[in-house]
Amino acid sequence: MRCSAPSKLMLLLAAAGSFLLSMTATAHAQKPPVDPGPDSAVTCIPHERDALLAFKQGITGDPAGILALWQQQQPDGGHGDDGEHTQDCCRWRGVRCSDRTGHVIELRLGNANNDIVVDRDATALVGQISRSLLALEHLQHLDLSYNNFSGGPTGRIPEFLGSLKNLKHLNLSGIGFHGSVPPHLGNLTQLQYLDLFSSSSMGAAYSTDVSWLAHLRFLRYLNLGSVNLSTVTDWPHVVAMLPSLTVLRLPGCSLSGMLPEPVAQLTSLVALDLSRNSFTGPLPEFIGNLTGLKMLDLSSNKFTGPLPASVRYITGLRTLDVSYNNLTGLPREVGTLSSLTGLYVSHNSLEGDITEEYSRSLKSLQHIDLSSNFLKIEISTKWKPPFAKLRSANFANCKMGPMFPAWLKWLVGIEYLDISSAGITDRIPDWFPTAFSNASFLSMSKNQLSGELPANMDIMSSLDELDLSNNSLSGQIPKLPNNLTYLDICINSLSGSLPEDLGLPNLQVLSVASNSITGSVPRSICRSQGLRTLVLANNHLDGELPNCFGNNVMLFLDLSNNIFSGMLPASMQNCEMLQVLDLSRNMFSGRFPVWVGKLKRLRFLRLRQNMFSGKVPTNLTNLGCLQYLDIADNRISGSLPRNLSNLKSLKQKQSAEMCSDVFHVRVFAVNFSTFLKGQQLSYGSIPRIVGLNMKVIDLSFNNITGEIPEEIATLDGLLNLNLSKNHFSGNVPSKIGAMQSLESLDLSGNKLSGEIPISLSTLTFLSYLDLSYNNLTGAIPSGSQLDTLYAEHPNMYTGNIGLCGPPLKNNCLKTDASEQGPFTRTEEGRWQGFFYIGLGYGFLAGIWLVSCALLFMKNWRIAYFCLFDKLYDKAYVLVVTWWAKADQEDMQLS
Ligand SMILES: *[C@@H]1O[C@H](CO)[C@@H](O)[C@H](O)[C@H]1NC(C)=O
Ligand SMILES: *[C@@H]1O[C@H](CO)[C@@H](O)[C@H](O)[C@H]1NC(C)=O
Ligand SMILES: *[C@@H]1O[C@H](CO)[C@@H](O)[C@H](O)[C@H]1NC(C)=O
Ligand SMILES: *[C@@H]1O[C@H](CO)[C@@H](O)[C@H](O)[C@H]1NC(C)=O
Ligand SMILES: *[C@@H]1O[C@H](CO)[C@@H](O)[C@H](O)[C@H]1NC(C)=O
Ligand SMILES: *[C@@H]1O[C@H](CO)[C@@H](O)[C@H](O)[C@H]1NC(C)=O
Ligand SMILES: *[C@@H]1O[C@H](CO)[C@@H](O)[C@H](O)[C@H]1NC(C)=O
Ligand SMILES: *[C@@H]1O[C@H](CO)[C@@H](O)[C@H](O)[C@H]1NC(C)=O
Ligand SMILES: *[C@@H]1O[C@H](CO)[C@@H](O)[C@H](O)[C@H]1NC(C)=O
Repeated sequence: MRCSAPSKLMLLLAAAGSFLLSMTATAHAQKPPVDPGPDSAVTCIPHERDALLAFKQGITGDPAGILALWQQQQPDGGHGDDGEHTQDCCRWRGVRCSDRTGHVIELRLGNANNDIVVDRDATALVGQISRSLLALEHLQHLDLSYNNFSGGPTGRIPEFLGSLKNLKHLNLSGIGFHGSVPPHLGNLTQLQYLDLFSSSSMGAAYSTDVSWLAHLRFLRYLNLGSVNLSTVTDWPHVVAMLPSLTVLRLPGCSLSGMLPEPVAQLTSLVALDLSRNSFTGPLPEFIGNLTGLKMLDLSSNKFTGPLPASVRYITGLRTLDVSYNNLTGLPREVGTLSSLTGLYVSHNSLEGDITEEYSRSLKSLQHIDLSSNFLKIEISTKWKPPFAKLRSANFANCKMGPMFPAWLKWLVGIEYLDISSAGITDRIPDWFPTAFSNASFLSMSKNQLSGELPANMDIMSSLDELDLSNNSLSGQIPKLPNNLTYLDICINSLSGSLPEDLGLPNLQVLSVASNSITGSVPRSICRSQGLRTLVLANNHLDGELPNCFGNNVMLFLDLSNNIFSGMLPASMQNCEMLQVLDLSRNMFSGRFPVWVGKLKRLRFLRLRQNMFSGKVPTNLTNLGCLQYLDIADNRISGSLPRNLSNLKSLKQKQSAEMCSDVFHVRVFAVNFSTFLKGQQLSYGSIPRIVGLNMKVIDLSFNNITGEIPEEIATLDGLLNLNLSKNHFSGNVPSKIGAMQSLESLDLSGNKLSGEIPISLSTLTFLSYLDLSYNNLTGAIPSGSQLDTLYAEHPNMYTGNIGLCGPPLKNNCLKTDASEQGPFTRTEEGRWQGFFYIGLGYGFLAGIWLVSCALLFMKNWRIAYFCLFDKLYDKAYVLVVTWWAKADQEDMQLS
C-alpha cells in the first residue's frame, strides 16, 4: 500500500500536472505582463475600488494578511507614494486592471497553499463573497480557490456570480460549497474555464440539471469534481454541445451505471477525468473514438472486463490511468502508444503474461504501475527495454521470478522501483547498485532473494528508502548508502556485525530484526540524531549499549531477544518521545531504570526476561500513557508503588491527553508472543498491540514483596494482570471485582492470605484464573463463571490448604469430600468417568432439583444442577463434567 500510494499520487500529478501547466501557461501567455511601475498610466476607478473594499469587508479572517494593503483613502493626506499604502487599487495584491481602460479585469485571490491541507487554514481568507463584486463589470478572471468562504446561509455558490457576464475564468475550486449549483452560471457566456472542484470531504454540492452548461459556448475547461451528479443522465449530451471543450474533469461526481455512449462524441477532448465514480460494466470500445486524448483517468471505478484494444487509436495518449477497477485484461495494443508517459493499471484483476510485445513502442514511458494484479511479467533476459527514460516502476505482486529480471539493469534512470512479492528466488544481482544508482526508493521485499548484499551498495548516493525485508539474504551488511533515511532488512539470514559506520546522518528508520547479527551496537549509531525507529530484535547482538545511545525524537525501540548485557546507559533518558520500549529477552542488569518515569509518552514497556533488580520506581506511575507493562522474569524486589491509579491509560475511561497522538511507526513483521491465559499466545506485532490498545500488567517471576496495593482495582481497563511467582502477602484486594475488563488473572505462587473476595465472582469476562500456591483460606465464592473456569483449569486453587467448599472436595464443614479422583479418560476418549459432587454429605432423598443447565465448552460437557436440600435448608450446585472427545491438547489442562 504505502509503496503504490506515493508513486501513483506524486507521479500521476507530476505527469498530468505538467501537461495541464503547459495548457494554462499558453492561456496566460496571451495576457500582457502586469506593469506595477509608478509611471504606469493605469489608476484605479473609484467605484471599483469601493467595490473591492466592500469585498474586503466580507472577509472576517485573513491570517496571512493577503488583503492587508487594500486600504481606504486616508483623510489626512498620507498619499500612497511610499508604495505601501497605495490608493491605486490596480496595484493591490491579487488585482489587475486593464492597461487600456483601467477597469479591474482580474481578481486572483486563490489560496496558494492548496496542496497541503495542514497549511491551508494559515493562508485562507475566511468570510463571505460580497455582492459588491458585481460592480466589477469588466471582470474576466475570478479565482477564489481554496479559501474558506461560506456561500451564505445555504452554503450555495452565490447566484449573483452568474451576472459577472464578462468572466472568462472562474475558479471556485476547493471552497466546498453545499447545495445545488446555481444554473445562473449559465449566463456567463464568455466563460472558458470553470473550476468548481472540491474534495468530497469539503462540501456536498450537487446538481440535478446541467443543461445550463450548454450556454457556455466558449468553455474549454470544466471541472465539477465532487459535485454530486448522480441524478443527471444527460451530461454527455450537454458537454458534447460544447464545441471548444478540451478538458473535462468529473472526478467523484457519484456517476454510476455503464459509461454512456454519447461520451464517444467528446472527440475534441484532450483530457478526460472520470475517476472516483461508480461506473460499472465493461469499458466500452468507443473509448477509442476519443482520439484527441492526451490524458485519460478512469481510476477508482468498478469497470470490469478487459481494457479495450481500441485504446491504440488514441495515439497521442500520454497518461492512462485505469487503476483501482476490476479489469481483467490488458491488451497488447497498449504497447503501441508511443507517446505514453504514464501507465497506471494497479489494483485490478488483470491476468495474463506481459511480454516484450507490450512495450514495443513505449519509448516515452516514464511511469508504470502494474502492481496488485495477477500479471506475470515474462521477458527474456536478453531484452533491452525501449523506455530509457523510465523514472518509476511498480511491479509489486506481479510474478517476475523465479530469475531476477535481468532487463531491469537497463533502467538506469529509475528513481522508484518496487518489485516486492514478485516471486523472485534468485541471487541478488551484483549490478543493482550501479544500475539503480539514481534510485531514491527501492523495494524488493517479500521475495526469496539470496546471496550477499553487493559490497558497493554505498554508491547509491540518492537512495532514500531501501526495503529488502523478508528475503533469504546472507553474509554481512556492507557499507550503506549515506543518504538513507529508511532501511528495512528484517527477516533475512544476515550475519556478521553491524557496520561500524551505521550512524547515517539522515537515518530515521532502521530495522535489522530477525537476522543472525552478532557483535555490539556501534557507537556511530549515536550520530543518527533523527533516528525514530530502531528495531534490532531477534539477533545475537551482545555487549552494552554505547553510553551515547538515545535521542529526543526516537519513538520506537525494539532490542528484544538478543544477548545485550550491562546497565542501560543514562543517555537513554533523553528519549522523551519514546512510545515503545522493548528490551525483553536480553541480559540487561542493574537497577530498574528510574528515569523510565520521565518518558511521559511511553505506551509500551517490555523488560521481560532480563536481570534488572531493585524496586519498581514510584514515578513509574507518572506514565499516564502506559498501556502495556511487562517486567516479568527479572529480579525486581521491594514493594509496588501505591499510587497505581495514576496509570490512567489502564482505565476504561482514559483521558485523551497526549497519548492519543497518531502512532506513526511503520509496522514491522516481527511478532512476539506472550503469556495470556496461561498459554503462549501471539498478540501480533507491537504496533498491533498498541493499536488495539491491549492493556496488560505482567510482573510475574520477580521477588516483589508487600501487599498488592488496593488501588490496583481502579485499573478497570486491564485485560491481563499477572502478579504470579512473587512474594506478595496480605489479602487479595477486596475490590478486585471492579476490574471489569479482566480476562486473565494470575496471582499464583505468592503468600496471599485471607479469603478470596466475593467480588471476584462478578468478573464476567474472566477466562483464566490462577490463585494456586498461596495461603488463602475460607470458602470459595460461588458463581457459574468461577465454576466454569474451575472446570477448565482444576488446579487454580491448588496449594491453598485453607480453602474449602465447592468446587473443592473438602467442604467448609470439615466433612470429607467425595472420593472422586481427578480427570480421567478412557481409551476411546468418550464420555467417561468424571462425576463429581461438591458436597460431602448427600441425603439425596431430601434434595429437589430446582434447575439445570448444560454447557458445552471445548471438549467438555458440563451440567449444572441447582439442588435444594430441604432437610438442611441449604442450596447446592451439582456439577457433572465429562469428556466428549479427548485430544492431546486438552490433557495439558490437567
Ligand atoms: C472555516 O471557517 C469556519 C469559521 O468561519 C471554521 O469553523 C472552519 O473551521 C474553517 N475551516 C477551514 C477549513 O478553514
Ligand atoms: C483553480 O485553482 C486551483 C488551485 O489554485 C488550481 O489547482 C486549478 O488548476 C485552478 N483551475 C484552473 C482551471 O486554472
Ligand atoms: C441568469 O440565469 C437565470 C437562470 O438560468 C435566469 O433566471 C436569469 O434571468 C439570468 N440572469 C441574467 C441577468 O441573464
Ligand atoms: C466510433 O467511431 C466509429 C468510426 O469513426 C463509428 O463508426 C462509431 O459509431 C463510433 N462509436 C460511437 C459509440 O459513437
Ligand atoms: C472482480 O470481478 C470478479 C469477477 O470477474 C469478481 O469475482 C470479483 O468479486 C470482483 N472484485 C471486486 C472487488 O469487485
Ligand atoms: C544527500 O543528502 C544531502 C542532504 O541531505 C543532499 O544535499 C544531497 O544532494 C544528497 N545526495 C544525493 C546524491 O541525493
Ligand atoms: C523519579 O524519581 C527519581 C528519584 O526517585 C527522581 O530523581 C526523578 O526526578 C523522578 N522523575 C520524575 C519524572 O519525577
Ligand atoms: C529473592 O529474595 C530473596 C530474599 O527475600 C533472596 O534470597 C533471593 O535470592 C531473591 N531472588 C532473586 C531472584 O533475586
Ligand atoms: C497463612 O496465613 C495464616 C493466617 O491466615 C498465618 O497464620 C500463617 O502463618 C500463614 N502461613 C504462611 C506459610 O504464610
